Amino acid sequence: MSTIILNGSPKGKNGNSEIFIKQFLKGMKTPCEVKCISKENPSTLAEYVKGFDTIILALPLYIHSMPGVTMRFIEHLEPAETSENKSIGFILQGGFPESCQYKYVERYFGSLSKELNRNYLGTVIKGNSANIHGMPSFMKRKLFTVLESLGEIYERTHTFDKAIIESLKRPYEFSGFDLKIMKFVTKIGLVNSMWNKSLKQNGAFDKNLDKPFLQKN
Ligand SMILES: Cc1cc2nc3c(=O)[nH]c(=O)nc-3n(C[C@H](O)[C@H](O)[C@H](O)COP(=O)(O)O)c2cc1C
Repeated sequence: MSTIILNGSPKGKNGNSEIFIKQFLKGMKTPCEVKCISKENPSTLAEYVKGFDTIILALPLYIHSMPGVTMRFIEHLEPAETSENKSIGFILQGGFPESCQYKYVERYFGSLSKELNRNYLGTVIKGNSANIHGMPSFMKRKLFTVLESLGEIYERTHTFDKAIIESLKRPYEFSGFDLKIMKFVTKIGLVNSMWNKSLKQNGAFDKNLDKPFLQKN
């Protein structure tokens, strides 16, 4: 069965989605083809992926949704003529740690699979991943091992392992002590420190309250 992995991040090979893809491929004995949506013509790519039994879309959550380049590509996809041996699965990662934040996109992926007449492998969701590129190895070792197993099991069974999906999804929502910690960390400004640093590095900190789409009268 042929598989193609599509990287749905606008950052392409320089992003965190690529790190997820690499770990998934590490688990496969025969790694499959990977293409970056942002580097391709959406209609040509949609035509190309038709020939594959399985499409795996690995992407980040941007503004509670999917990146524009991915959305534009999806609009070019056509339903498979028959669902026999045709599947689609999603690997979704982002900065928000609670997986409840990803549920709307997850639901959409479920309906999209039906629309495309492809069997739904499921959506792997992993929050708290915005810093993954800069994390020391010991902090990401466990996640990397799990992603490798996901790839290994996928190659063997053509399914996404349900136990892995469940484990990566945690926490769904903060509660109890974790919630108290989060509230404290938010109050002292630690949650925003990473965003503010990035805004400052790009000379955009002073514009962080700009509303460029608001009509000026
Ligand atoms: C413009 C922008 C918007 C983002 N919006 C969200 C969001 O709504 N939810 C979330 O969990 N993470 C959000 N993030 C964090 C990214 O999902 C996270 O950094 C991810 O790992 C980026 O993956 P990539 O490097 O493959 O693009 C956002 C990041 C950027 C730059």
